[in-house]
Amino acid sequence: MAYRALCRIDHEGAYANLLLASMLESSHLSDRDRRFVTELVYGTTRMRRACDASIDRFVVQQPDATTRTLLRLGAYQLMYAGVPPHAAVGETVRLAPQRVRGFVNAVLRRIAAVPLPPWPGVAAELSYPDWIVGRLVVELGERDAMESLRRMNEPATVTVRDDGYVQDRSSQWVAELVGALSGERVLDVCAAPGGKATAMAQSGAFVVAADLQAHRARLVASNAERLGANVAVLVADGTRPPFPDSSFDRVLIDAPCSGLGSLRRRADARWHIQPDDITTLARTQRALLDACAPLVRPGGTLVYSVCTLTAEESIDHPVPAGFRPVSDVLAPWMPYGDGARLLPHVADTDGMVIRRWRRTDA
Ligand SMILES: C[S@@+](CC[C@H](N)C(=O)[O-])C[C@H]1O[C@@H](n2cnc3c(N)ncnc32)[C@H](O)[C@@H]1O
Repeated sequence: MAYRALCRIDHEGAYANLLLASMLESSHLSDRDRRFVTELVYGTTRMRRACDASIDRFVVQQPDATTRTLLRLGAYQLMYAGVPPHAAVGETVRLAPQRVRGFVNAVLRRIAAVPLPPWPGVAAELSYPDWIVGRLVVELGERDAMESLRRMNEPATVTVRDDGYVQDRSSQWVAELVGALSGERVLDVCAAPGGKATAMAQSGAFVVAADLQAHRARLVASNAERLGANVAVLVADGTRPPFPDSSFDRVLIDAPCSGLGSLRRRADARWHIQPDDITTLARTQRALLDACAPLVRPGGTLVYSVCTLTAEESIDHPVPAGFRPVSDVLAPWMPYGDGARLLPHVADTDGMVIRRWRRTDA
């Protein structure tokens, strides 16, 4: 199953989490085997580049695409998963078509003898595209970048709210920092799947949750229903919000972003996102800020958050006209521009930036 999943992720651009969820659903594996398949698929996907560096020491001619994937799966077991070498090699070779069996066997045996290669560089060792490593070093400095990148190679720690909803602690904190109070009107502009909207509703506030995509807005509605949260859901483009000015006490813009702070959550994300995407996303974020800031009533609060670590998508956006920063920052958040930043390795959460402003004009 892991091999079939990886072929589709490596060569057909399938999304690892969606594909694996549907494959596991229609399988009859035990819980233990499900966990093992999940580790193999996510781990091999994350460590793809590092596995390739190990494999490439021993191949002279490029293997075809599916043989490459098989070698990665074998290499991952030998390098990272602690699978005994005879099992990792034997089980992987068994999956190989006859014509490449000898080749796969020979390469994996050599990897088994010396699993980790002399790394050509830190990006290969940590298994990220060069540009992500370069960008995070610029954004965070060498030490924090390395620690963040290492932590994002580990599976995410699962945290469960009192109401049973699974949500990263960093997102729980963002929802809390919006400060919604009972009886207030709160708009969550980019709400799907509804984690923060349902958390904010626990305060007794009336939460309006919008999302651009209808199928994602439906996720918010079903989560809200399941949790009994008082959330009104609509499909709307936050860059053209269908509300009059000053109609909310608080507005949260949890903007679409490059996700460079939450790479541990999606094993394949690092291979999909491109440097140019950041510029495009920053443009959308700015349009969301421009369009939604006027919806906050005078004296009300505007909150902007992203699960990424680039300045371009966070602190570089100008303070909306008529607003002043609210800049009390509590650990483990660290001051960042007029807001706060959370790095993945500091409190075992996603990486996140939050900015809060109060509307001070009349
Ligand atoms: C970071 S996710 C939101 C996560 C959510 N706040 C939570 O805590 O569960 C960003 C969302 O923004 C939505 N989105 C993207 N562009 C949008 C736009 N122009 N207007 C409204 N929503 C948008 C995406 O569909 C996506 O669901």
